[in-house]
Amino acid sequence: MSQRINPSILSADFANLQSELDSIRSADLVHVDVMDNHFVPNLTMGLPVVQRLQEVSPLPLDVHLMIEDPERWAPGYAEVGAYSVTFHAEASTDPVTLARGLRDIGARASLAVKPGTPIEPYLEILHEFDQVLVMTVEPGFGGQAFMAETLPKLLLLDAERRRHGLDVWLQVDGGVTVETIGVAATAGADTFVAGSSVFNGVPADRIAELRAAAQQHTASHRDDTLSR
Ligand code: DX5
Ligand code: ZN
Repeated sequence: MSQRINPSILSADFANLQSELDSIRSADLVHVDVMDNHFVPNLTMGLPVVQRLQEVSPLPLDVHLMIEDPERWAPGYAEVGAYSVTFHAEASTDPVTLARGLRDIGARASLAVKPGTPIEPYLEILHEFDQVLVMTVEPGFGGQAFMAETLPKLLLLDAERRRHGLDVWLQVDGGVTVETIGVAATAGADTFVAGSSVFNGVPADRIAELRAAAQQHTASHRDDTLSR
């Protein structure tokens, strides 16, 4: 099964974003955190900055919208060419219609849930999404500790996508390090956002270490263990 490492530029040097993007070329996508100071108590960047990142980034953009009223704002990120647009279930009034709109524009549609939000209500609409983001910290800030209590949601999502043969990516975001990436991969995650653990060192080395750690732990290992 393919896995992806998506560094979060929330932990990058905002004064040198172009060189920071170059430093993570060996990753798969670049994770861009948009915060509006309403949905989360922090403020980052908006559409004009993301549009410029889209123009210069060697990697496709994985945009994570931590904003209120995604129905109003999310399509604009798809229109500037973001490869994937994630909006939060807690903020959306109609996730299915919004996801269809994002796909119509040409982006991958992705649904995020905060640590305390149950995933069961969304399992029956899983086919409407290209990715589900299970937040493994409370959204808003980098550098927080991984919340292992979110892992059962990945197990449920992984079982559901297998049952229906869906090609939906399962992303984790928050506290992902070489120590925690394994349990997330074993639970079914295949797409890993890492901010501080990439940019606190030499990014290319950190990406390689995360990739190696993830490859040793996949959902198929879980099956092997269970069937023994
Ligand atoms: C937090 C953001 C994350 C953040 C992760 O709300 O959504 O993408 O950058 O940072 P780390 O990997 O440091 O937990
Ligand atoms: Zn994020």
